[in-house]
Amino acid sequence: ELCEFIGAERRGPVMLVTLERPKALNALCDQLTRELTTVLDAIEDDDSIGAAVLTGSTKAFAAGADIKEMQPKGFADVYLEDFITSSWERTARMRKPIIAAVSGYALGGGAELAMMCDFIIASDTAKFGQPEITIGILPGAGGTQRLTRAVGKSKAMDLVLTGRMIDAEEAERSGLVARVVPADALIDEAVAAATTIAGFSRPAVLMAKESVGRAFETPLAEGLRFERRMFHAAFATEGQAEGMDAFLAKRDAHYSGR
Ligand code: HXC
Repeated sequence: ELCEFIGAERRGPVMLVTLERPKALNALCDQLTRELTTVLDAIEDDDSIGAAVLTGSTKAFAAGADIKEMQPKGFADVYLEDFITSSWERTARMRKPIIAAVSGYALGGGAELAMMCDFIIASDTAKFGQPEITIGILPGAGGTQRLTRAVGKSKAMDLVLTGRMIDAEEAERSGLVARVVPADALIDEAVAAATTIAGFSRPAVLMAKESVGRAFETPLAEGLRFERRMFHAAFATEGQAEGMDAFLAKRDAHYSGR
């Protein structure tokens, strides 16, 4: 299937997904969002893909929701179509791991899209911000919630209320990004991380992702309970038997994906 604004390229067990709308710095228009959903659905359905990387261009991961499309909308429009969260949240609903590889601007909805991924690897040129306040609105796809959980109240308030941008170094210091790498190493580093993940036991990876995700949604006692259930369930997988046997036999593990 042909996408105008989304590229999808196989790298072994990893799908590299690229936002490709350079004329608008990858602003997340309706069509781009629909295409992204289609591509993510296909990744989820393909057993041979173990993890994904979502990236943009050198200049911009994504400069936010498309302001040209938003400008004429009124309350009834955005409320009735549940703009825009309902369609974007496909990224947040991924079961397979998805890493955001961010270079250049990740602003507004672009930062929110990156935060919907499991973790962010940033190039040293990355800039993050929630500039919605500067155009008369507020973040609407997790920018007041995921950001606050990632960086805490003080930094989140600073970013959301002033609209200022932070660079990769400040983003890493704040806990928003997992690693910062030189710009020309960004894709390789992200694909390598995704390849590592894709090489592990598939059920263990999904359970681990699901369990960390719980930390964002439940009180500690509930989260710990959930983690323990998942941990116990992992002992029902072929991956557990193989992984531990391989360790004890001092050989590489070969996971069946079950
Ligand atoms: C539509 C956009 C855009 C956007 C950039 N462009 N961002 N179009 N929506 N969000 C377009 C510009 O209009 C311009 O088109 C082209 O991309 C290049 O952008 P420039 O501004 O000329 O580039 P530059 O001077 O380098 O500045 C880069 C920038 C700036 C600092 C990133 O573009 C900018 O401030 N963009 C808007 C950022 C923003 O406010 N994002 C939040 C949106 S609200 P032309 O045709 O003139 O060449 C949001 C809400 C999410 O995301 C809520 C979800 C529910």
